[in-house]
Amino acid sequence: MTASPTSRMPVAVIGAGAIGRMHIERTLRHPDVSVAGIADPTPAARKLAESLGLAWYADHRELLEKSDARAAIVATPNHTHADVGIDCISRGLPVLMEKPVADTIENAQRLCDAAKRAGVPVMVGHQRRHNPIIQRARALVNEGVLGRPVSVNGMATWLKPDSYFDLAWRREKGGGPVLINLIHDLDLLRFLVGEIDSVQAMTSSAVRGFEVEDTAAVLLRFANGALGTLTVSDAAVTPWNWDLAAGEAPHYAQVSVDTHFLSGTEGSITLPRLHTWRFDGKRGWHEPLTQSQTMLHRQDPYMEQLRHVRAVAEGREQPLCSGVDGIRTLQAALAVHEAALAQHVVRLHTISNPL
Ligand SMILES: NC(=O)c1ccc[n+]([C@@H]2O[C@H](COP(=O)([O-])OP(=O)(O)OC[C@H]3O[C@@H](n4cnc5c(N)ncnc54)[C@H](O)[C@@H]3O)[C@@H](O)[C@H]2O)c1
Repeated sequence: MTASPTSRMPVAVIGAGAIGRMHIERTLRHPDVSVAGIADPTPAARKLAESLGLAWYADHRELLEKSDARAAIVATPNHTHADVGIDCISRGLPVLMEKPVADTIENAQRLCDAAKRAGVPVMVGHQRRHNPIIQRARALVNEGVLGRPVSVNGMATWLKPDSYFDLAWRREKGGGPVLINLIHDLDLLRFLVGEIDSVQAMTSSAVRGFEVEDTAAVLLRFANGALGTLTVSDAAVTPWNWDLAAGEAPHYAQVSVDTHFLSGTEGSITLPRLHTWRFDGKRGWHEPLTQSQTMLHRQDPYMEQLRHVRAVAEGREQPLCSGVDGIRTLQAALAVHEAALAQHVVRLHTISNPL
């Protein structure tokens, strides 16, 4: 059944931790969707639901059975994603999986196979794809502003407070900034530049001394021949990261810097400020470059993502970040760890059964 344009589509929110609460807060004030209920076993989640007058369940399966949800958001820890997502899919609910789509390629594939069999769409929460800045950058790339992509450079460096690491999973394998944060930058570059062919990397835990890395430096080769570098750290005092520079959420103190630099044979683009550089006349090292700034309009990508969830659930749009995109981006992130451990180039194998 399709919701009338005037009614809001009920969405089940599973996991009410840091990002789950952001989804709940936005869903409550979104014109297209509403909260069908919250599932999260913690007393804090129960208290939140009660304070908002929302139905609360400790077990997500009970929420799925008892509510009128027509789509679901899975915002639980990574290792639970595949099983929880499959529970939603088996009830025919289109699902927005928080990133990473799952903790392993096998689990991600299991999730996507289940979705394919059921004919249910999977979306992955790489919300930057919904940011108008990224949409504009992608249009510029497609219009040929770069020409042939040559190199990309990105930084994702900032300081996380010590209290962030009170949760054990954030100190343990799978919980570091490569899988939590850099994965967004990898997805961003896949979206703008194309598929990643191979990865080299170094990681370090020298500052925090946890099982997981606090810093990583990554080299990328794209299938179209372009090369890239990405640096991530959650232990350095810097403004050079997308969250601060793009101001995607109001709880970040926004700064006016660029964090990603795309270069090609015809010109270059900086992000998020969308400066473009090219030669107006003669080309060459000694010729003046012309700088312009394309229109920049800011919009909350999480709100846009919620609009998209309903549009996909109603069959009006295809997932902007599909389950397969989620798998390919996860492959690249896992390749960073593999390359750092093995100290050799890791080639991303092609997914045998694109969905
Ligand atoms: N898109 C983004 O920018 C972004 C930002 C932060 C986190 N995330 C992703 O969102 C997910 C959650 O991250 P977080 O930082 O919010 O974690 P968190 O630990 O703050 O919250 C997770 C919540 O899930 C609950 N939970 C665990 N198992 C559950 C289950 N089976 N059913 C229902 N609830 C369950 C926990 O009790 C907890 O409250 C992770 O996959 C993370 O990578 C995405």
